[in-house]
This record gives sequence, C-alpha cells and structure tokens, in this order.
Amino acid sequence: MTQILPPIPPNIALCAETLRQGDLVGIPTETVYGLAGNALDERAVARIFAAKTRPSFNPLIVHVVNLAAAKRYAEFGPEAEKIASIFWPGPLTLVLPAKKNSGIARLATANLPTIAIRVPAHPIAQQLLQYSGLPLAAPSANQSGHISPTKAQHVIESLDGKLPYVLNGGDCRVGLESTIVDLSESKPTILRLGGLDIEPIEAILGKVTVHQKTDGGAVKAPGMLLRHYAPKIPLRLGCDNPRPNEALLAFGMDIPNGFAKVLNLSAIGDPIEAAANLYSHLHDLDLGGFSSIAVMPIPETGLGLAINDRLRRACESQKELSCAS
Ligand code: TXA
Ligand code: MG
Repeated sequence: MTQILPPIPPNIALCAETLRQGDLVGIPTETVYGLAGNALDERAVARIFAAKTRPSFNPLIVHVVNLAAAKRYAEFGPEAEKIASIFWPGPLTLVLPAKKNSGIARLATANLPTIAIRVPAHPIAQQLLQYSGLPLAAPSANQSGHISPTKAQHVIESLDGKLPYVLNGGDCRVGLESTIVDLSESKPTILRLGGLDIEPIEAILGKVTVHQKTDGGAVKAPGMLLRHYAPKIPLRLGCDNPRPNEALLAFGMDIPNGFAKVLNLSAIGDPIEAAANLYSHLHDLDLGGFSSIAVMPIPETGLGLAINDRLRRACESQKELSCAS
C-alpha cells in the first residue's frame, strides 16, 4: 500500500505536493529514515503521532534546508551559530529557544519554548526540503518500540499503509540517530548521543555534560518538560458539570450546557483533529479569563492515549489531579 519511489525529480515534486497537502512521506536522511510531515501544519504533525502509535507526544525534530532557514524558527546565539556552521548539514540536532510566532505547529515542539532543529545532509532530503520550501517535522520512520529504519524497505515493514510514499535514498550512511545538543540553557548539554562524535563538539564548546535517557529518547529532566504543558488556570479532567465561569474543552457532539465558553477538540470525534487542536485550544481557554477548564472524557484509543497522557501530565504538574466534582 505504501509505495517506494525512486528519487527522480517528478517523484520529489510528487512528495513535496503530498507534504503540502498535509500527508506524510518517508524520507531518507544520512542518519535514519524519517516520517516527515509539514511542521507548519498541526494536523500533519498529529498524523505523524497517529502513524507511529506513540502513546505520548514527544517533541519532534524539525528539518530545514540550511542555517538561514533554521533562523526563521530558532534563536541562534554565537555558540549555536558556530557549531551549526561547522557541522551542518549533518547528524547534529540543536535544541534552541524557539522563535515566537514562527508558524511551527505547537504539537511539533510539544508546546515547549524550545525547538529541536537540524539540517540533514542526505541529498534526497536536501532536494525535498529545497523543492517543497517547508520545514519538516520527522521522527524516525518506525512504529513506537520498533528499530529505527535505515533502508526504505524497513519503513514499509514498520509502517505499511500509514503513509503514501517513501522516497528511496538507499542505505543510510550513518545508521544512527543524530546527536542532540541542548544550547537553550546557560550550559550546553548532550541530550542524546548519536551519529556525530562528542569530541569534535567538545573541541568547540568545551566539556559538555551528557544527559541521556536509557531508552534512546532525549527529554530533559521530566519536571522541566512537564511544567510547560500546564495551563495556568485549573484543569479538571473527565468533567461535564460546570463550575462558575468555567470553560469547556469538548470532544464529540454531545456538549453539556452551562459553560462560559466551549472549544471543541473535534465535533466528529476524530482523535487526529483533536490532537491538532489540543495545544491551541488549551492556550486560548487559558488566556480567556475563565476560572478553570473542564475537559470532557476522551476515549483511550489511538491518539486519544497521547492526548490523555498530555492532559494528565498537565494536571499533575498543577497538583489538581482529577475531577473533584
Ligand atoms: O537522526 C535523527 O535525529 C532522526 C532523523 C529522522 O532526523 N530523527 C529522530 O527523531 O531521531 P525522534 O523523534 O525519534 O527523536 C527526537 C528526539 C526525541 O527524543 C525528543 O525528546 C527530542 O528529540 N526533542 C525534540 N525536541 C526537543 C526539545 N525541544 N527539547 C528536548 N528534547 C527534544
Ligand atoms: Mg526514534
């Protein structure tokens, strides 16, 4: 069902158009194959999470064509500028302060104030980025828990039918995910060891601390990430009984009465649409002058798992654990 396409110009054009339409494409990079979607399109990014069946929304790496393009989405200090100009294009991801209102989907950065960004070296990835003109959010193109793909055929083995096309760029030269360096805080840290050695990085930045999660993921100290997911006003999960001046984050058609304001994640009950709306609706309700936000129950299936995970974390970090009806 998913087609492997030889990387000839008409196929690059076809894949660029597919991405512009909000669909996903498997792309070769020098590290591993990526499951790419338009990083400016919340719904395309939601589709990435749905295809990978990830039970939570980790922030994704945004791929861009060059340093100039990266500067549209991230703030570069002198260290970032230096290390990027030496190692890009290549297997290095930088975590940097995100530019405000740059258009990057909130789901791509998991609503964090930082963005992970890299310029891949693979010529086919380069051609697609150039031709499409889009920043591409791309995790490794495998189901959650599977091994990262280093051949087009691996993408099919893990994700057949979840995306229309994989561009065939042959075997990945590096075969290991990119090294992630966090330059968003005062001291540089390595969040994931990967395809770029640490020595040449340290030759530029000096000694760096390595904070790697054992499962190969790269999230900062959990508390640091959690804090940013929480709205400022109390969040009550699985509730449909209004409190005074309370807003409702709804799901589905069956909307209870009595709320000061209702924003619906998805009237048709589509979890992909709901995921695409999650952060922006939470954000809007948080700033709307309400006393609290009640969230209707969301089924624990498909992307509903990740949506509920995110909402529960937001609640936990507010210490308002559940619906105290
Ligand atoms: O080589 C690679 O990096 C591949 C290819 C496709 O480019 N991509 C990849 O993406 O490995 P993924 O989603 O599997 O890994 C992204 C990692 C995750 O562990 C995530 O937690 C971390 O990057 N990450 C993304 N944004 C972050 C941020 N703002 N702060 C800290 N960590 C972040
Ligand atoms: Mg991965």
